[in-house]
Amino acid sequence: MTQARTTPSVEEQAINPLREGLRLERTAPPCAMVIFGGGGDLAKRKLMPALYQLALNRLLPAEFTVLGFARSPLSDEEFRRTMRAAVGEFSRTQPLREPVWDSFSQGLFYLSGNLDDPQAYQRIAARLDELDRTRGTCGNRLFYLATPPSAFPVIVQRLGEAGLTQGPQPQSWVRIVIEKPFGRDLKTAIELNHTVRSVFQERQVYRIDHYLGKETVQNLLAFRFSNGLWEPVWNRQYIDHVQITVAESVGIENRASYYEEAGALRDMVQSHMFQLLALVAMEPPVSFEADTVRDEKVKVLRAIRPIPEDRFHDFTVRGQYGAGWIGGREAPAYRDEPGVARDSPRETYAALKLFIDNWRWADTPFYLRHGKRLPKRVTEVAIQFKRAPHLLFAESGGEQLEPNLLLVRIQPDEGISLRFAAKVPGPTMHLRSVHMDFLYGSAFLVDAPDAYERLLLDCMLGDATLFTRNDEAEQAWAYVTRLLEGWERATPDFPNYEAGAWGPEEADRFLERDGRRWRVP
Ligand code: BG6
Repeated sequence: MTQARTTPSVEEQAINPLREGLRLERTAPPCAMVIFGGGGDLAKRKLMPALYQLALNRLLPAEFTVLGFARSPLSDEEFRRTMRAAVGEFSRTQPLREPVWDSFSQGLFYLSGNLDDPQAYQRIAARLDELDRTRGTCGNRLFYLATPPSAFPVIVQRLGEAGLTQGPQPQSWVRIVIEKPFGRDLKTAIELNHTVRSVFQERQVYRIDHYLGKETVQNLLAFRFSNGLWEPVWNRQYIDHVQITVAESVGIENRASYYEEAGALRDMVQSHMFQLLALVAMEPPVSFEADTVRDEKVKVLRAIRPIPEDRFHDFTVRGQYGAGWIGGREAPAYRDEPGVARDSPRETYAALKLFIDNWRWADTPFYLRHGKRLPKRVTEVAIQFKRAPHLLFAESGGEQLEPNLLLVRIQPDEGISLRFAAKVPGPTMHLRSVHMDFLYGSAFLVDAPDAYERLLLDCMLGDATLFTRNDEAEQAWAYVTRLLEGWERATPDFPNYEAGAWGPEEADRFLERDGRRWRVP
């Protein structure tokens, strides 16, 4: 809506000394970050590029140190070389700035060992003490679990046994970041929470969901709670229904062993999509603090109406892609992807109809859909308002008019648009739908930081607002586990959609039965 350039880029803030005050506000304190799974994909594609970007934006202190931990025997120098190649490939700022990399990489170290070997944790402890002395990391520690989830419990236990859950000095802090998936059903999530909580206090635990680090997702909070306009209409009286879509054109990208265990519901719905749902549906929190925000989110998750045992068909659709075409390229069937069982029952598509049983939302459907190998990559929240109660202009095109729609485009083409009716210029009262558009790109003229940049910095600063609390994870699992159990009772007829289609036909019928249609993004 505005074309004005409002804020300088983070890069500009970093090089403009006049903005020193602004920059220092968010600079992390000295600390050592131990990355378990330090040589893995996540470390290379996401963590290291995000840390380098923070260094580039001068948001990391000179003392910031990384200790990579993994099985392969590497020297510190070899680890730095591998990470340089990864940052060169995956950083959002190209080309790499050599002076920044040189000083940042001086803080990278490596230790090899087995995740379940108690001795390895003694070596980590000794190395961290040494780094406190040589690098000035002040005893502050951030443990990042970037390993396969099966290793989470043992790492947590070993950290506890090695006495690494407390810092060496009274004022030092220790935090642990746990990647998703946090468990694979309610039982395992409770067990994992139990293991983590037997060693760490909840305030030390940061369960990461990278969707919460996305600028556009955070903007949902800003949009709802800093504009007086929306609150009066943000409820069952004015909103007909909400559609949340997370569509991906990619398939499972060599992650068969993980995906065969997970599937669409566990991979995306339990985590990212339920977080989006909670942000759209939550009550205004009393302040923007970790627990007040999370208290409201968890209330939404608790209020989701359970699906009656015998009515799964009315509330859910699952799908799996067969072979097809996307963007002019042939895509193999899920069951033909390397590492996938030829008769795999794993879903790559899920659509749900949910109701949130509270005063704000009673009987307002929330439709969620996610799938792999859909026609394009798009994540959006569509708030569909009810029709105007009385149409004055019915004879002049008014009846065909779509009701108001507020569309929050999470990615790509990040922005928000509002659809409303307008008069077409001319002698008759002819109406048409038009859009009022806000686009991040033109309103702010800055590149949004990657989600991991924001989340890593928040964690170093001790701000858990954008991380998932144990009760949120368990509530989301409670719903998803029940659903998975219901699905397991019947054998699915897979594949039931072609790669490149918008999911199974059944998903269209699912909404048609309610007199509605999926939006075509
Ligand atoms: C991950 C899922 O959490 O999110 C992947 O495991 C998915 O399957 C990815 O592709 C999507 O993230 P983004 O940021 O690309 O939307």
